[in-house]
Amino acid sequence: MKRARIKALLQSGVIGEKTTVCGWVRTFRNNQFIALNDGTTVKPLQVVVDRENTDEALLKRITTGAAIKAVGTLVESQGKGQRVEIAADEIEILGDSDAESYPLQPKKHSLEFLREIHHLRFRTNTFGAIFRLRNSIAFAIHKFFYEQGFVYIHSPIITGSDAEGAGEMFQVTNLDLDKLPLTEDGKADYSKDFFNKQTNLTVSGQLEAELGALAFGDVYTFGPTFRAENSNTSRHLAEFWMIEPEMAFSDIHDNMDNAEAMLKYVIKYCLEHHQEELEFLEQRLLNEEKQKPQNERSEMSLREKLQFIVDNDFERLKYEEAIEILLRSKPNKKKKFQFVIEGFGADLQSEHERYLVEKHFKKPVILIDYPKEIKAFYMRQNDDGRTVAAMDILFPGIGEIVGGSQREERLDKLMQRMDEMDVSQEEMDWFLDTRRYGTCEHAGYGLGFERLVQFVTGMSNIRDVIPSPRYPGHCE
Ligand code: 4AD
Ligand code: MG
Repeated sequence: MKRARIKALLQSGVIGEKTTVCGWVRTFRNNQFIALNDGTTVKPLQVVVDRENTDEALLKRITTGAAIKAVGTLVESQGKGQRVEIAADEIEILGDSDAESYPLQPKKHSLEFLREIHHLRFRTNTFGAIFRLRNSIAFAIHKFFYEQGFVYIHSPIITGSDAEGAGEMFQVTNLDLDKLPLTEDGKADYSKDFFNKQTNLTVSGQLEAELGALAFGDVYTFGPTFRAENSNTSRHLAEFWMIEPEMAFSDIHDNMDNAEAMLKYVIKYCLEHHQEELEFLEQRLLNEEKQKPQNERSEMSLREKLQFIVDNDFERLKYEEAIEILLRSKPNKKKKFQFVIEGFGADLQSEHERYLVEKHFKKPVILIDYPKEIKAFYMRQNDDGRTVAAMDILFPGIGEIVGGSQREERLDKLMQRMDEMDVSQEEMDWFLDTRRYGTCEHAGYGLGFERLVQFVTGMSNIRDVIPSPRYPGHCE
């Protein structure tokens, strides 16, 4: 079937041309005006039905949610708000939709309600806009790295190692849990499992990306990652997508430069290609913020916020300097933070990150040189003996959007740190080989894909920017 896409018709459809369109009915007014959406754009196309010459029975089947095909002539629109409409000669119902039981009524539904029917929410304007943007953000990320000569590496999803040492992993097994084979001392016998050992879903593709970087120079991964942390927040998912670039012959400063350039590139791409979606989401956000007290509303509109990121340098400072700022801050002195900062060594919570970004600097912040105790074993130890060359990028409204570091490339230092942190050298022997043979300075970072989509779309809950959100108690 040769069908025209509604987005293209609204933009550049030629008046007078015979046209076929397909889509889903949003509303049907006066037995005459169909608002049709085919998922290509926020705006519906008006299809004008020839009421006189159309069967009564067919008119009854043009209901909200029904899939239809319309054939007719593209004409100049009499109504305002659209350039063109279709004067239909022929309407065909492709798939009926019972108006009584269809969950998506032509009215405003709450995000909470739409989450309960997430299998249908793609069909709303809000989720249409979000997921077209999500698509372009993924594309722009690939485009950025491709143009810079990076090689896209597919890191494994099932792994035998715990990259972050965090221990919050989903186990993968095909053992029958009701008839678990046991070892002599009564523990599960994983030698009988599918891979003859215990395996998990990956929490990060970084360690495999390092293997790639030490061969190709510049690589990145872009894949799903899994964390079994029991975090019920608006910024955590149990299954999320991560982009992990890894660069040989690069230090922490090259790492920051790359991450900042990448984020600006992707956001600029969205501003250039998605005015319509962003305008729609901006209005949605404005309406949402009207419910909030004045001091909690943002000073900038969605597109102004995005433009601000593109136009301004991120603030770069050391963790230690950030702690000084937080110690002197009003909410810390008045014990308004849930976690009061006592001094060096404190693990920054999202409330502290957001204070630095939203209240103090009023722009994105890159923090480097964190205490080694609160960071992973693979981060490069600084000469001061107490910090590592870690970097976190903090965004307004989001907090941490990127986490990365320069890597410990010195075999002896890495092994010493693994011992201290109880990371098995035996299991990680393959990783240590990169340091035994042709090691070099290298660095990388992980970008939380959904957190970036959240920022670009202005959605306050991460569960609304991924098709099927997985979080504690929910795997619909
Ligand atoms: O800071 P994280 O844990 O870093 C790593 O995994 C490193 N291996 C990355 C690297 O250096 N290659 O995670 C990186 C980013 C975070 O900054 C955050 O944006 C996102 O991943 N993230 C999550 N996003 C959604 N839900 C979760 N549960 C997340 N945990 C981390
Ligand atoms: Mg982190």
